[in-house]
Amino acid sequence: MENKDYKSFLPNIIPVVIVFVLLGGFLAYEFMQISTLTKNVGLLSAELASTTALLSQNTKELSQNITDLRAQTVGLSNTLSSTQQNIDAVKTQVGGVEQTVGSISGTVGTLQKLSQTDPELLKKYSKVYFMNENYTPAHLTQIPTDYLYSTTRPEQFLTEAWPHLKNLFDSAKASGVTLYAKSGYRSFAEQQSLKSMYTVVYGAGTANSFSADQGYSEHQIGTTLDFITSGLGGALNGFENTQAYQWLLGNAYRFGFVLSYPKGNSYYVYEPWHWRFVGVKLATYLRDSKLNFYDMDQREIDTYLANTFD
Ligand code: DAL
Ligand code: ZN
Repeated sequence: MENKDYKSFLPNIIPVVIVFVLLGGFLAYEFMQISTLTKNVGLLSAELASTTALLSQNTKELSQNITDLRAQTVGLSNTLSSTQQNIDAVKTQVGGVEQTVGSISGTVGTLQKLSQTDPELLKKYSKVYFMNENYTPAHLTQIPTDYLYSTTRPEQFLTEAWPHLKNLFDSAKASGVTLYAKSGYRSFAEQQSLKSMYTVVYGAGTANSFSADQGYSEHQIGTTLDFITSGLGGALNGFENTQAYQWLLGNAYRFGFVLSYPKGNSYYVYEPWHWRFVGVKLATYLRDSKLNFYDMDQREIDTYLANTFD
């Protein structure tokens, strides 16, 4: 009976054992898995901790670097600013030196021009200053016959002033105005014989009212011209009523010419035909200030000498 029970009990226990064995195996397997996982988690955790520590260290270093860089930037910016200041200071000094050099070279230029300009050119003659009988202009140019009213006598003009006179003639012509040269340079001797002739013909009093003594005529410096226009039969009288004279009044200063003897002057009768080259700068100044050449003090006139041919 007992044996029989045992035999009948055995088949029933086998599946149970199998189940237990399987369960045991499964549990052992899972335990191993969990154990491996736990180990991995431990490793990962350690790795995470070390990465975190590393990151923290790097962040700290980066932060320090940024701070250092900021400090360096501020330092650089200060250096730049002080360098810029130095550059500006040097520039200012160089500018000052340039200005000085410029003004020195301007002065040298003016002195050079002065040394090359005849000091007689802007002197008041006309009974005021006497010119040596040996005085002749340094260079004289024959006025081309196209610009002469009569070709029977050649006329000359100071070479350096001729381009200004030529421009005046050409500009007048371009405006439809007829202008010719009647009398340019006259030597001391020529003026002397002219004055003698006038004195004989008109008497000394009258001659003195319209003709300069030798040595006092502006014609002797070579920068003075008596203009004439067509329609007057070659005479100077009547010139004041011509279009040519009106043109000269409005334009001659642009070429450096001034009217020496306007109405009411203290030297000679009114001579609308007699114009003198004094340079554009002085002629423009006289026009702007509504002054005549002989109204100015000789010292003031002489300050324009260096600019006579500008
Ligand atoms: N007719 C002017 C004044 C001269 O003789 O120079
Ligand atoms: Zn004249």
